[in-house]
Amino acid sequence: AKIALITGGYTGEAEVSFKSSAFVNSQLDHDKYDVYLITISKDAWFYTDKDGRQYPILRESFTLPLNGETISFDLAFIMVHGVPGEDGRLQSYFDLLDIPYTSCDALTSALTMNKGYTKAILSDIPELYLAKSVLLFESQRAEAISTVESNLSLPYFVKPNAGGSSIGMTKVKESAQLQEAIDKAFDAENTGKQVIVEEFVTGREFSEGIFRNAKGELVVLPATEVRTTREFFDFEAKYIPGLTEEITPADLTTEQQERAARILKEIYVRLNCKGMVRVDFFLENGTDKFYFIEINTIPGQTAQSFIPQQVRAFGMKEGDFYGELIESALL
Ligand code: DAL
Ligand code: MG
Repeated sequence: AKIALITGGYTGEAEVSFKSSAFVNSQLDHDKYDVYLITISKDAWFYTDKDGRQYPILRESFTLPLNGETISFDLAFIMVHGVPGEDGRLQSYFDLLDIPYTSCDALTSALTMNKGYTKAILSDIPELYLAKSVLLFESQRAEAISTVESNLSLPYFVKPNAGGSSIGMTKVKESAQLQEAIDKAFDAENTGKQVIVEEFVTGREFSEGIFRNAKGELVVLPATEVRTTREFFDFEAKYIPGLTEEITPADLTTEQQERAARILKEIYVRLNCKGMVRVDFFLENGTDKFYFIEINTIPGQTAQSFIPQQVRAFGMKEGDFYGELIESALL
């Protein structure tokens, strides 16, 4: 099958997309799949060949004129984090062109890119807790501080409501830092001009993947625990090796593992997910409650990322895992 492995994107996460797609490309079975690396940037969409030569993509048909022929693709393997790969735009585009893809559909992608709206849908899942939060729209920017302070208690996490990789995010420990944090989150590039402010949950942080395999079964991967020496698991902690201790499989009791698996399956089904997704949690100290942080529908696949670690801990080769995602998307 001819696979368009799509990378790039319009946000600060593009550099993460480049690393994720490079890793996926290095693991895929190239005897079985004919893989074309295609970059999507604001200015140009193009295929890059093994020698680094670039060839434009025809956007009206998503085809590639190459050496006198026009290549069309059997499947898009979307590895673009953030806009337009994780928020439903590329999904809608491929739907219109009838090209199958590996990720969640347009509606689920658009919904889950919005952290505040996602929490509303997941609010009554048994055994899953949500940190208190407020969602701020651009029109409410002037009253943002008073809205936050009258609804939440310090410390806060302030984030772009439709961002990723902790870009534009601040942990606010005192009121004096709030305005700057809110401005930074509103101004993060291409993240929709909405901000979510959440109360901090004190506990251990986990991340766990789930996917549908080529037989149509839901498979929960082993969880990863994140222990960072930094203030929180920020961009540097995520992508600079050595700043974070990541334990896969995480040290959880059997009961906690089973509870996490039930929650993951419920989230996956309720949001009508497809392919692989990854959910981030806190396990609150003292109460042992799982708090939802967010769901990622295009989870990172850099050599440092969680899903590849979890796939290995599960006893699977990364290339076989990506092959399952392709086969299940082609079903
Ligand atoms: N948004 C990043 C890529 C992740 O969730 O892995
Ligand atoms: Mg994320």
